[in-house]
Amino acid sequence: MKFTLANLSSSMVFIAFLSQIHGSRISHRSSKLVALFIFGDSFLDAGNNNYINTTSLDQANFWPYGETYFKFPTGRFSDGRLISDFIAEYANLPLIPPYLQPGINQYYDGVNFASGGAGALVETFEGSVISLKTQARNFKRVTTWLRHKLGSSGAKLLLSKAVYMFSIGTNDYLSPFLTDSDVLNSYSHSEYVGLVVGNLTSIIKEIYKRGARKFVFMTLPPLGCLPGTKIIQLKGNGKCLQELSDIARLHDRVLSIVLLQLEKRLKGFKFALYDFNADLTQMINHPLKYGMKEGKIACCGSGPLRGVYSCGGKRGEEHFELCDKPNEYLFWDSYHLTESAYKILADRMWGYTNNSYNIGPYTIRDLFQLQ
Ligand SMILES: *[C@@H]1O[C@H](CO)[C@@H](O)[C@H](O)[C@H]1NC(C)=O
Ligand SMILES: *[C@@H]1O[C@H](CO)[C@@H](O)[C@H](O)[C@H]1NC(C)=O
Ligand SMILES: *[C@@H]1O[C@H](CO)[C@@H](O)[C@H](O)[C@H]1NC(C)=O
Repeated sequence: MKFTLANLSSSMVFIAFLSQIHGSRISHRSSKLVALFIFGDSFLDAGNNNYINTTSLDQANFWPYGETYFKFPTGRFSDGRLISDFIAEYANLPLIPPYLQPGINQYYDGVNFASGGAGALVETFEGSVISLKTQARNFKRVTTWLRHKLGSSGAKLLLSKAVYMFSIGTNDYLSPFLTDSDVLNSYSHSEYVGLVVGNLTSIIKEIYKRGARKFVFMTLPPLGCLPGTKIIQLKGNGKCLQELSDIARLHDRVLSIVLLQLEKRLKGFKFALYDFNADLTQMINHPLKYGMKEGKIACCGSGPLRGVYSCGGKRGEEHFELCDKPNEYLFWDSYHLTESAYKILADRMWGYTNNSYNIGPYTIRDLFQLQ
């Protein structure tokens, strides 16, 4: 080929173009963006269960799920966004996609491994959900990808700056009450909590070993006070199922002790523990203070308190009722909250609101800002 000024300049343009892409990649990575990796259950699942072989009990990819913000059912168990979606926004990150979503081919900003129905125990809704153990295995794959792309020191830096957010445990305690399992006859409450927190601790240590340092946990919700659990007892009269709320409280106490121990034992381990239980209890009892009209009846479902898990009509019962204004309700369906409620909780968790219940030395915002 004859070398002319014309194709010299066009190849220079091409080189400039390449280095621009390359440069933006580098400036993106050396920017202040801190990645967010999400683990756990339906409070944080952004659609992973759309892509597994499961039942509609563990899926939310049908109308009216997603009806307000997204205008289509994304798989989130709400009318709109989840706590983790707001946290990503406050951290200047894009929406963090589900790990199993086809076409996801980069993980620089983090990724979401959570699965509706999942617990810390492998046995919890086994076969229908992605257990926390499998979520950790998927995370391992992502760390391998990052090392391949960024080299081992680049990956190490990204992983140690990243924030790791968890919501797990709810299903471990719900499943014995919702199924005919007799596990709570074979274990005392404290033994069972020991298994759940023990398994969660193993996963935390495994993720730490792969380079994670900044962990965020939520306490369990007041488990016996959800529309779906209040209706379990005959003649419940709208009262909370005390046994379930008590075991959730025990879990929270044990978890906070374990986290303090891990902070002492694992070098560089930092955590934020947000008291979801305390805030949600306040919201159930005083919805008006939070700008909501209804704190006890769900927006979507059937039966007393709309506590029957029939929202969408695809879970064995076709009939369901749907409220007109989800933003006036705390509960979206029998177990999950509306986007308005999740936003209030995310704001409190982030620390936008005074007197929020953050246990321990850090809020999630602190963890994003720490280098
Ligand atoms: C999905 O699960 C059902 C019921 O467990 C089973 O019959 C079916 O073969 C599974 N399908 C796939 C693709 O694994
Ligand atoms: C994890 O749970 C299993 C039951 O699924 C139990 O046998 C095991 O002892 C637990 N592990 C820890 C570390 O508690
Ligand atoms: C939080 O409390 C501090 C001190 O009590 C006060 O100065 C500040 O305005 C409050 N911020 C908000 C957002 O209410």
